[in-house]
Amino acid sequence: MFEVFEENESEVRSYCRKFPTVFTHAKNARLTDRDGREYIDFFAGAGAINFGHNNPYIKQAIVDYLSQDRIIHALDMYTEAKEGFLLALKEKVLAPRNLPYKVMCCGSTGTNAVEAALKLCRKVKGRENVFAFSGAFHGMTLGSLAMTGDRFSRKGAGTSLGNVTFMPYFNAFEDEMTSLDYLESVLKDDHSGIDRPSAIFLETVQAEGGINVAPVHWLKRLRKICDENDILMVVDDIQVGVGRTGYFFSFERADIVPDMVVLSKSISGFGLPMSLLLMKPEYDLFKPAEHNGTFRGNQLSFVGARAGIEYFDKEKLDMRASDYGHIIMDYLREEILPLDERLKIRGIGMIAGIDFSAIDSKLALEACHKCFDAGLVIELAGREDCVLKILPPLTIDKEDLVKGLKIVKESVKNVI
Ligand SMILES: Cc1ncc(COP(=O)(O)O)c(C=O)c1O
Repeated sequence: MFEVFEENESEVRSYCRKFPTVFTHAKNARLTDRDGREYIDFFAGAGAINFGHNNPYIKQAIVDYLSQDRIIHALDMYTEAKEGFLLALKEKVLAPRNLPYKVMCCGSTGTNAVEAALKLCRKVKGRENVFAFSGAFHGMTLGSLAMTGDRFSRKGAGTSLGNVTFMPYFNAFEDEMTSLDYLESVLKDDHSGIDRPSAIFLETVQAEGGINVAPVHWLKRLRKICDENDILMVVDDIQVGVGRTGYFFSFERADIVPDMVVLSKSISGFGLPMSLLLMKPEYDLFKPAEHNGTFRGNQLSFVGARAGIEYFDKEKLDMRASDYGHIIMDYLREEILPLDERLKIRGIGMIAGIDFSAIDSKLALEACHKCFDAGLVIELAGREDCVLKILPPLTIDKEDLVKGLKIVKESVKNVI
């Protein structure tokens, strides 16, 4: 059934092992496989499908562009597709939020924007060290991997991953401020043995790390620490940006302005490759071509991204994520938690998690398999993959959302 893949494709393939079927079609929050079986999608391409599969508004813009023989590949030359995107981003996203950022178009995946940010922070501040947090995930290339916590991924580097110091995330201690007390003491103590970093990289909600939602007061204090110590704050919004938390940018809820932001996944609107580094203008210090690349600026992604921004604005996707987020958290609280008092739930907007670690982390994988058997695609996150991660497209129908949640409930009940 999967011979072509198993014989020809590298062993590195991963998601297909959890979702063993051959997919053929996808529409909004539904996937269809070769046998015509339908699945509800609680995975959304790991956050790349916030606008739903084949979103008709975005698809139309891309089809129109394609059908007119418009330019598809242009490196970083000026095109109307890029012009339209930059204007839409400025007028509908950045200006209304008073965000001053300049936009750097990076390579096609999120990790390339993280690499660009890392290089730029070191260049701007002239300091090699950066801080990242325990539980962080920033990507798989060497710089991003050096800021990623999980040992399995780090081991895959096959080389040393240096010049990053890990600080405890807010959830490392019972009192969440202990982590920042420690971070601050390291900066103050001239005998701490830890070099002052050029930047602190963070996710305001760690997704791969297990759906850890940093509290607002923690984020605000971190911003203050960065200001007081001449350190850049870089928010990685690759997975939880573009509306996921109920805001276009995840840091809006804390009313802070990072010095740089990295975006990818859903920013192209259509699941096409695209990544961006947004930076305050005073940090726009790369010389021309200093972070170059052939695929910086896929024209179809620009067209999709512009249409996605228009759709976001028109449909108020941030409010929808917030409303549907309440449906999810209410369901988890009322229907899932009573199944076993040792379960833990966490979430914000349309990202939520069910943590099995206090019972047995392995149960999360069993629940994930049961969900798939019952027609739901859902992934795991966190230490030892102990968290079942709920991440539907923001455009999912209410019926599908509730149906998916019921499958989750039955699967959890089954495994515990
Ligand atoms: C927060 C975060 N940063 C960076 C990345 C890396 O993005 P990509 O896989 O597109 O390189 C991911 C991917 O899951 C992510 O969730």
